[in-house]
Amino acid sequence: MKYWTGILCLLIACVKPTLKEVNLIPKPQKIEIKDGAFSLNFNTNLIFDSLFHQEANYLKELLNLKLNGKNNTIELLKKEGLQEEEFFLNITKETLKLEASTPTGIMRGVQTLRQLLPTKTNVVTIKISCVSIHDYPRFSWRGMLLDCCRHFMEKEFVMRYIDLLAYHKMNILHWHLTEDQGWRIEIDKYPKLTEIGAWRTEKDGSNYGGFYTKEDIKEVLDYAKKRHVTIVPEIEFPGHSVAAIASYPYLSCTGDSINVGTEWGVYKDIYCAGNDSVFTFMEDVLMEVMELFPSKYIHIGGDEAPKYRWEHCEKCQKRIKEENLHDAHELQSYFITRIEKLLNKNGRKLIGWDEILEGGLAPSATVQSWRGEEGGITAAKSGHDAIMSPTSHCYFDYDLDATDLKEVYYYEPIPVELTKDEAKHILGGECNMWSERAPQELVDNKVFPRILAMCEVLWSDLEKDYDDFYSRVQKHYPKLDFLGVNYGFESVPIKSKVVFNNNIFTVSLIKGSPNMKLEYSINNEPWKKYVSPFSIDSTSNLKVKGFKNKNPYGEFEQELIKHKATGKKIHYTIPYDKSYQGNGDRNLTDGLLGSTENFRDGYYQGFSGTDMEVIIDLDKITTFSTIQTTFFQYYLSWIILPASISYYISEDGENFEEIKSIINKTPIMQEGKFKHSFLFEKENIKAQYLKVIAKTIGKLPEEHPAAGSDAWLFVDEIIIN
Ligand code: ACM
Ligand code: ZN
Repeated sequence: MKYWTGILCLLIACVKPTLKEVNLIPKPQKIEIKDGAFSLNFNTNLIFDSLFHQEANYLKELLNLKLNGKNNTIELLKKEGLQEEEFFLNITKETLKLEASTPTGIMRGVQTLRQLLPTKTNVVTIKISCVSIHDYPRFSWRGMLLDCCRHFMEKEFVMRYIDLLAYHKMNILHWHLTEDQGWRIEIDKYPKLTEIGAWRTEKDGSNYGGFYTKEDIKEVLDYAKKRHVTIVPEIEFPGHSVAAIASYPYLSCTGDSINVGTEWGVYKDIYCAGNDSVFTFMEDVLMEVMELFPSKYIHIGGDEAPKYRWEHCEKCQKRIKEENLHDAHELQSYFITRIEKLLNKNGRKLIGWDEILEGGLAPSATVQSWRGEEGGITAAKSGHDAIMSPTSHCYFDYDLDATDLKEVYYYEPIPVELTKDEAKHILGGECNMWSERAPQELVDNKVFPRILAMCEVLWSDLEKDYDDFYSRVQKHYPKLDFLGVNYGFESVPIKSKVVFNNNIFTVSLIKGSPNMKLEYSINNEPWKKYVSPFSIDSTSNLKVKGFKNKNPYGEFEQELIKHKATGKKIHYTIPYDKSYQGNGDRNLTDGLLGSTENFRDGYYQGFSGTDMEVIIDLDKITTFSTIQTTFFQYYLSWIILPASISYYISEDGENFEEIKSIINKTPIMQEGKFKHSFLFEKENIKAQYLKVIAKTIGKLPEEHPAAGSDAWLFVDEIIIN
């Protein structure tokens, strides 16, 4: 009986493909699967409306067939009254009919067809399942930012990404072309921008860089146009401009010679807003940019421009007075508004990061919201368009512990705060691929598979169903393999949940992907298969290895520290910052340490611009002899050790006695990422309560690239023994 049922299923499967076989990402708005298949081969003909001749050529090249046979036809036809990107694709045994009102609509349909093709190349006849699809995008702005400045990316690589975007129905490449660490676009009037600004001397003395000639850019633009992908160039003002200032020092407030940046972060040297020649430069550069790029929108950056230089510059202060501006924030608004006037005069529109809201938004600017959703909300509520790319969901340069596939899939670009009318100002969203930690060869690993979720968020207007999406992603991998995409993990492959109770740690291991198997070893003892949570009763080293289909799939290592305050209650006199909560109210006594490499690993707690002041309750009078509080420092991320730390003890929780104050001696600008412990040792300390006050340095000092900004304190554990 079983045998016959099996054959029957097989027969049905042959005749009628299941939805799973028609595997599309993003998911179409409407799809109906029919019986049978269209046979594409040397006997297939192609007919098309003359409006679509370029798309027809694209399709011919793609299929590598003559397409002038007699048996069956592919038709690219004009259908009146559809939206720009809307199309109907109707595949029967006899015809493959694609209809749209515009060439862009046809191209979106051609990409659907491309996803329906098998990934094998050695077949004579390609069978395409009979389906009927009606598709159109939810949002008109479906973008990806590619930072080709921190790491230069070859033009062929950029074109490959344009093709990958088109394949997934993304329609905007936001091309980040100027930065502190490299100017990447040739400008005829200012040749030093690429002679000097495109190159940096790395710490090892090597020369790193590259730039795109105007011919390169035209080639990339042609490639994008053919695929109906718009390239929006980003030319940064007034910050992130060190490479330009290194080329032409007169553009800065000080006029001093500086080098093209080699460190990641934010620099205080920005274009001077009091110097008219800066505006001449800005106009000249943007005129050449507009000559090259046909895009309606030009992105002018506007983010992370520290006001330190402007506040200390006579010319900038004079401008503030003359223009009746209130402060340096209004000076930034003045700067951006001048750029906007130039763009508008030339029929273009300005986009800037959400900092352009500070000091007043330029009249018709579009805001790209990145520091959360607030920028987008404020813009939409004041009648401005917005593009959503909050760090919480859209920063694909961040590790998977910050944003994984599922989190991106559940991202909703329209903030709940907006009314229906206000929501119309949300043009769509973008995922951002900043490249500080991603030279070209690592970009695939960070972008894929997360971009599969993003393209579906921005295109499909259907109820979310993660299981369905996840199963389509699994079937999509062979297509990515076929396209040579070196995709990464879907989520952190292995995580742990550690609870300290009754004097023992209970460790649960969490698999980042179903079908994974885990093995673990405590203190280098023999490896065991993980089946259920296990206990650890003393300070230990835990190692875990993951496997998927018997292949290695991720590793994990953790130190568990058992000490006299482990699991004890903490009272926060000053709250920790919401963006870096670590393990919440138990973070400082959870027995878990943060790593040196990744300060976003979830074990650190952050305080921005404030001191840390906490009281630990040890439940009863306890005797101990060491107190050790560990902080992290990485000055380029504005994370600085405390200026000093003081320890106080109490028996009643009210009357505290200071037992030690330690002054920090590590320089604020010490190179690299590192941890530092503030240790106090004394025999027989007796107390129930320990108060720890760590004083922030406050503002970053003059010599820091982001002078004047708030410093962060990052702390992971207070160990008492
Ligand atoms: C940004 O990430 N600085 C826009
Ligand atoms: Zn100035």
